[in-house]
Amino acid sequence: MKRVGIIGVGKYLPEKILTNQDLEKMVDTSDEWITTRTGIKQRRLVKTESASDLATQASLEALKDAKIKPKDLDLIIVATITPDMPFPATSCFVQANLEAFGAVCFDVSAACAGFIYALSIAHQFIAQGIYKNALVIGTEILSSITDWQDRNTCVLFGDGAGAVVLAEVKSGGIISTYLGSDGSMADLLFLPGGGSRNPTSYKTIEQRLHYIKMQGNELFKIAVKKMVEAAQRVLQQADLECSDVDLVIPHQANVRIIMSVAKKLGIPAEKIYLNIEKYGNMSSASTAVALCEAVKEGRIKKGDIILLDAFGAGLVWGACVIRW
Ligand code: ACO
Repeated sequence: MKRVGIIGVGKYLPEKILTNQDLEKMVDTSDEWITTRTGIKQRRLVKTESASDLATQASLEALKDAKIKPKDLDLIIVATITPDMPFPATSCFVQANLEAFGAVCFDVSAACAGFIYALSIAHQFIAQGIYKNALVIGTEILSSITDWQDRNTCVLFGDGAGAVVLAEVKSGGIISTYLGSDGSMADLLFLPGGGSRNPTSYKTIEQRLHYIKMQGNELFKIAVKKMVEAAQRVLQQADLECSDVDLVIPHQANVRIIMSVAKKLGIPAEKIYLNIEKYGNMSSASTAVALCEAVKEGRIKKGDIILLDAFGAGLVWGACVIRW
């Protein structure tokens, strides 16, 4: 098996900012409620761009960082729950934008854990020597599936994309990955309309079925439990302790979830990377963007042990340990 690592990172956030104060004018909420319950102060929203547009920009930055040409990519995996279209795969649009015509392309639907799922898949392909260079992207336009009349959900989400290039490395790299799923609780967080179960009709639109439906309170408890479990399992597989971790990059859904997970793992707050305040929950893009920012801000040094940990709709969860 080959040693596989991240050799380049990139991100792209749309320019438009929607603050908590802006939301106060749209629904019955307050900056105070959103800040104390979630840690979010603002989020980015697209004007006209699609998921593949954001993904392409993040990818160009990651490819430049990795010093890899698009033509040298063998694999492009896009993690998203807001694809450009039900088909073809958003990764195919990214491929066309990059002119990376040597790459195999497909999408992964694993909501907020999507980036870790995609990373894990790409890791296997490279470790086994099947592909050399892989581009893994988390990209979301959650604003396109957010019900802007529902205060329970519209304060939480934002748009953005993060990308990494994976390749064989001489030292460090991905040490272990762990993935989990439980479909029996799918209705705690889902988008019921527009698929084959409830094809788009006047009725589905009238019933607002094309927007995120979420039972936040129930999910909160399960998210904490599963993110703790995923972190413990992936560290155990890597033969490491929580005290060995230099930086945790958690999915940015709620600062209270993140801090509960950290407390249960016994990891101090200064080892937790947070950017939820600026972007809200960007589902699969959250961990990808956070990883990129942590690298660019110098929070990650060569040899550091990094723990990625995420939970989302499915329900799905996953974690990954990397020696940088
Ligand atoms: N402004 C003001 N009040 C609000 C708002 C708002 N935006 N939203 C809800 N409230 C009210 C509720 O109506 C409720 O009022 P009531 O007591 O009169 O009924 C009260 O605030 C408390 O509501 P809760 O839902 O219990 O609030 P909670 O503290 O649980 O916070 C939140 C809600 C932020 C959604 C939290 O539960 C959470 O983060 N859940 C997890 C989300 C998650 O992890 N999702 C998975 C990943 S996302 C993905 O995969 C795409």
